[in-house]
Amino acid sequence: MCGIVGILGAKPVAPDVLKALKRLEYRGYDSAGIATLEKGRLTRLRAEGKLKNLEAKLEATPLSGTIGIGHTRWATHGKPSETNAHPHASPRLAVVHNGIIENFRALREELIARGHQFATETDTEVAAFLVDDELAAGKSPVEAVGAALKRLRGAFALVYLFEGEENLLIGARQGAPLAVGYGDGEMYLGSDALALAPFTERIAYLEEGDWVVVTREGAVFRDAEDRVVKRRIIHSAAGGLLAEKGNYRHFMAKEIHEQPEVVGHTLAHYIDLSALRLRPFAWPVDPAGISRVSIIACGTAYMAGLIGKYWIERFARLPVEIDVASEYRYREPPVEARDLAIVISQSGETADTLASLRYAQAQGAKAIGIVNVPSSSIARLADAAAPTLAGPEIGVASTKAFTCQLAAIACLAIGLARARGAMSESEERALLGELVAAPGLLAQTLKLEPQIEHIAHRLARARDVLYLGRGPAYPLALEGALKLKELSYIHAEGYAAGELKHGPIALIDEDMPVVVIAPRDALLEKTVSNMQEVAARGGRIILIGEAHAAEEAALELDGFLPMPEVGANFAPIVYAATVQMLAYHTAVIMGKDADQPRNLAKSVTVE
Ligand code: M6R
Repeated sequence: MCGIVGILGAKPVAPDVLKALKRLEYRGYDSAGIATLEKGRLTRLRAEGKLKNLEAKLEATPLSGTIGIGHTRWATHGKPSETNAHPHASPRLAVVHNGIIENFRALREELIARGHQFATETDTEVAAFLVDDELAAGKSPVEAVGAALKRLRGAFALVYLFEGEENLLIGARQGAPLAVGYGDGEMYLGSDALALAPFTERIAYLEEGDWVVVTREGAVFRDAEDRVVKRRIIHSAAGGLLAEKGNYRHFMAKEIHEQPEVVGHTLAHYIDLSALRLRPFAWPVDPAGISRVSIIACGTAYMAGLIGKYWIERFARLPVEIDVASEYRYREPPVEARDLAIVISQSGETADTLASLRYAQAQGAKAIGIVNVPSSSIARLADAAAPTLAGPEIGVASTKAFTCQLAAIACLAIGLARARGAMSESEERALLGELVAAPGLLAQTLKLEPQIEHIAHRLARARDVLYLGRGPAYPLALEGALKLKELSYIHAEGYAAGELKHGPIALIDEDMPVVVIAPRDALLEKTVSNMQEVAARGGRIILIGEAHAAEEAALELDGFLPMPEVGANFAPIVYAATVQMLAYHTAVIMGKDADQPRNLAKSVTVE
């Protein structure tokens, strides 16, 4: 959730720490801070709110230290404030932390009893005082951190900076990612390779339980048992992935508009476009022997999984269970070796999804990871990787990652069907033909932006909004509602259109916009009937569908977004951009920050 960085530089590091934090701000933006050694003395600057507030402080009070650590925070323990902002400090060190130290209460009481005075409400301060105590007892920084780490429980990444130690940073990873960057006479630590991309492409990742001693001369890794271990330096491609907005006002707008291209790239990864056949996929189990598929994910990735369930069941005739990861991991569901788990995650670091993957594997199942960040924990742990080629997604609201997830799942569903003999070669070609048409159709829907902005003016005045759909359009209704909620803070609900009369219809009146997603498929007539029910109660319908759907309904619509003709199967990929743009423009009209909505963070590495 939080972003952390550490730099051992050859020149003053504050500008580069700030540069790295800008690339990590998507992980949290409640407060930010930096600590450097100024003539050997620990010096901290921290600010509540977005990074620009810290930037202003740094302009007023420049720091000249050549070693430093930085942090951008998503608050877990303690409200967003300058006091609770990282780095946290004890007399001998400063520390930045991403994650949660679960046993902090017991440790805090113990440390208070030993005379420590806590200045913040955070769990992080215990990680500072534990090491400080070891230093006070005469241990070296390396010995002190080694001893303190044994006492911490939870999921975290830490980077320590020590008073008077101009050539030493110590990092640790337990459940939250941390990477080491190798520069030219400079060394780096960061939450991800993207943060370090302006400085180096040579990256080594800490593995679970690792901790690392970094000097300007290199890095020494130790595992959870303190054995010195080698971690491979890889060439990261993150440098080529520019985290820039271009001519767009927000990353989210840019990412929405990138979808035809990145969905096309993702499809080309799975499909031989000239032969219109699926490329071979390295299934982690024999598809013919699979008895059940379990899909596990969070948030928007979960919505993609819900749509995938329709496709896998329809094409491969395999039963599919789907769960949000925070439930799956603790529900202790029975898992068999003949089960195939599919975990979906943009970041590849979502704590609950990662834990669910570990659970499924521990029960003997093999897992496919549909992941956007190839170097992430989930991508590395999964038995087979099914990449999405969305490129870095910076806007907190997931958009292009979602449609790329859909593209990947659609290919897996067809692949499973073929491998299990549930689909003929000609059916495969027909479906792939529909699928490869999706990016072009998606590009057409993007042209509806002016109409969508117009409708968004009306949504911006609403208190509640209902989204309805049937079949695979039902999860898209859920996703549309999630997008509107997280960006505009307007209350929105997604419902299966057939469920309307079982409760939500009571909400409908002339103040209630109802967004109906009605692709041309076997269920269209039924969705049209549901629209009649809404209209009969004065509800204001915004229809997303083909002209044919509007004609069938023959109703006075509050808004109509005419969709291009899409085959019955993959409409969610094409229609997704409309609900994304509706939410985006509503938020912008309401003056909300579309890239960094309140209380959210991009990468949810805590439970
Ligand atoms: O990185 P992940 O795909 O695992 O993240 C899952 C959710 O946290 C994420 O999709 C979240 O719901 C987004 N804010 C939705 O726009």
